[in-house]
Amino acid sequence: MADLEDVQTVDLMSELLRRLKCSQKPDKRLIFIGPPGSGKGTQSPIVKDEFCLCHLSTGDMLRAAVASKTPLGLKAKEAMDTGALVTDELVVGIIDEAMNKPKCQKGFILDGFPRTVAQAEKLDEMLKKRGTGIDKVLNFAIDDSVLEERITGRWIHPSSGRSYHTKFAPPKTPGVDDITGEPLIQRKDDNAEVLRSRLAAFHTQTEPVIDYYAKKAVLTNIHAEKAPQEVTSEVQKALS
Ligand code: AP5
Repeated sequence: MADLEDVQTVDLMSELLRRLKCSQKPDKRLIFIGPPGSGKGTQSPIVKDEFCLCHLSTGDMLRAAVASKTPLGLKAKEAMDTGALVTDELVVGIIDEAMNKPKCQKGFILDGFPRTVAQAEKLDEMLKKRGTGIDKVLNFAIDDSVLEERITGRWIHPSSGRSYHTKFAPPKTPGVDDITGEPLIQRKDDNAEVLRSRLAAFHTQTEPVIDYYAKKAVLTNIHAEKAPQEVTSEVQKALS
């Protein structure tokens, strides 16, 4: 843990103010579901900041594990490179652990999880043990035909998860993160061929999860093909 005496007073004060503001916000437990490139990762940081939630992206967590070659990463790599899903046990384990972190105290956004009905059932069990449940599931509905351009034009800043698009959300300087000035990279699975497998996995394994939550009456559909700011307005309306 960082020694608080080493933290600048101004940083300490702004963190205290943030926490004070957060204490007045309602708790929220959210799921963002949708195909690759539908905008889950773009909208999550906005909602996370607004409601003081943690953003748990299984894709980001798995990519970090792959990059640092942990046993989990070594197991996940092959499936991720080909656009297949990794096993339910692996992702359920990382989500269960991540939810215990203090930053998830006011609730969470699950981005990319659950992706199978088995994962959704495990999540229900996990939350029941904690005496909670899911408040809302936002379904980022979009036609497949729009997604190739979004995915092949995406550039990301790996350490923060910030994502850009050459046409729809270009960085100020091409190839460079706006905030840190560090280089942007393209994800290994962000190409047309792997996208086809990712979409197939979405339609066969993840679409049933949308029905699962529709039956529980917690599902709201978002028109994810609209421009980013319009999608943000729809998301905010759905959560208000
Ligand atoms: P993951 O990282 O979760 O990828 P994904 O679900 O395929 O989602 P993406 O990150 O590609 O899309 P997004 O909706 O976040 O799009 P974004 O906002 O960036 O998973 C990767 C892999 O990990 C999986 O294939 C699997 O192997 C494994 N995995 C992960 N979770 C798992 C699980 N639970 N179980 C098993 N395996 C798991 O937007 C895309 C681009 O479009 C960006 O460039 C953005 O700038 C742009 N954009 C966004 N919104 C708009 C807009 N409204 N208009 C125009 N452009 C836009």
